[in-house]
Amino acid sequence: MRKPIIAGNWKMNKNMAETKALVAELAPLVKGADCDVVLCVPFTDLAVAKKAVKGTEIKIGAQNVHWKESGAYTGEISANMLKELKVDYVIIGHSERRQYFGETDETVNLRTQAALAARIKPIVCVGETEKEREDGLTEKVLYRQITEGLKGFKSKDFDKIVVAYEPVWAIGTGKTATAKDANETIGYIRSVLNKKFRGAGDKVRIQYGGSMKPSNCKELMAEEEIDGGLIGGASLKAGDFSQIVNYNK
Ligand code: 13P
Repeated sequence: MRKPIIAGNWKMNKNMAETKALVAELAPLVKGADCDVVLCVPFTDLAVAKKAVKGTEIKIGAQNVHWKESGAYTGEISANMLKELKVDYVIIGHSERRQYFGETDETVNLRTQAALAARIKPIVCVGETEKEREDGLTEKVLYRQITEGLKGFKSKDFDKIVVAYEPVWAIGTGKTATAKDANETIGYIRSVLNKKFRGAGDKVRIQYGGSMKPSNCKELMAEEEIDGGLIGGASLKAGDFSQIVNYNK
């Protein structure tokens, strides 16, 4: 059975003091959760966050990783640097990185390879834009993002890889995909993974992301294909995020 995974993506929010305070407030609220709980924080908060979650079950993730081991790549962070901080997860290919920072399926592939080689679990993001959805291209876009972004990976790699389906039009907009639509699209992603990666679709954990909040998390999580959530805005408040983590209570 696939263990649900609820991850917060803090994006470019919270300084070190705020990180310490938020984790301290959150930890008792998510104790005993039935799902994996992950906080993906800015690079500058990783060390503080790791220290703050000590003795809890909360895992810490980064929001990007470079594929080279070292060298003249100003502003980048390698997988070994994250490993040194004992980072557990890393978000790769978020739509904001694709949109603003030139991320492509090819760089997603390289980053995912680097993360796995360092034993850091990648959370690989896919999703269509509003225009692509309107033009009926959702499946085509997802097919390309998955087969190119994850090209060359073995079925066993999907024990570690997490996929996040985030329709771009639902991110930070308050618009959520209906639970049925999200379920159907994630089912499509599974079918592609099953076909292209020898049965990986049945075991891989696939999250939904995009305006997930306390008021809609139960409905989304009740769907068979949805194994969790990648939460932006609502992960910045301990009360909201803990309600999502405790969706089944
Ligand atoms: P929101 O939850 O703010 O819509 O953001 C979703 C997201 O981008 C998580 O990675």
